[in-house]
Amino acid sequence: MCTLRPQSYSEYYGFKIAANLPAPVYPPSEDSFMLCDAVAAQPRVDKAVDLGCGCGLTSLVASTRASRVYAYDTNPLAVKETKLNVAANNLSRRVRPALGECWEAPAAQLYTLNPPYLPSSPPMRQDLSELAWNGGPDGLRVVLPMLGCAASKLAPGGRLVLVCSTLQPTHMIEKRLERLGFSWRIHSSKKRLYEELRVYECVKGG
Ligand SMILES: C[S@@+](CC[C@H](N)C(=O)[O-])C[C@H]1O[C@@H](n2cnc3c(N)ncnc32)[C@H](O)[C@@H]1O
Repeated sequence: MCTLRPQSYSEYYGFKIAANLPAPVYPPSEDSFMLCDAVAAQPRVDKAVDLGCGCGLTSLVASTRASRVYAYDTNPLAVKETKLNVAANNLSRRVRPALGECWEAPAAQLYTLNPPYLPSSPPMRQDLSELAWNGGPDGLRVVLPMLGCAASKLAPGGRLVLVCSTLQPTHMIEKRLERLGFSWRIHSSKKRLYEELRVYECVKGG
């Protein structure tokens, strides 16, 4: 028997997002909103990829800038929620959620990324909630491979919009971006109690 969860929605950026997300799915948060604001300011493109889509809000906002959005997450519950939220907004033809990592993603002109960035001891048990925030001992465990992968999928002029925290060694992220051929600037930043959240806007060089 198929039972549908009784649904109520919150609205963000004009999109409906299920209010009762299951616990291991990252809910729309301050860093999500910073990423969404930066994504909404990008030039229009044909294809975008949202890496680590969570509940799908960032993917939905990316659909305002791209004709087609490919949304990836390694948490199957996040992919399921993204599918539900995409359907609730009648965008199933333009936003394609899938279980997977960057290596599965297509070439695109825009990559958006709010990776797990908090420095923490290596996860004892890699549970799905931890997957959303645990960036490993230096906070770089997930982001650095994602940067390399995104760089390989973006043509010159392609853009990467990325959330970081000053709890990470951000100079290492900046150096890696430069080594991968990106020019970058800080699009926005917000001070919090123990950290500053930053959104980097990066453009792939020729
Ligand atoms: C901080 S949440 C961001 C969710 C959403 N983009 C937002 O801004 O609200 C990070 C997401 O990345 C996913 N994730 C972690 N490692 C990943 C990987 N290697 N590839 C794809 N997604 C990953 C997590 O499951 C989680 O949903």
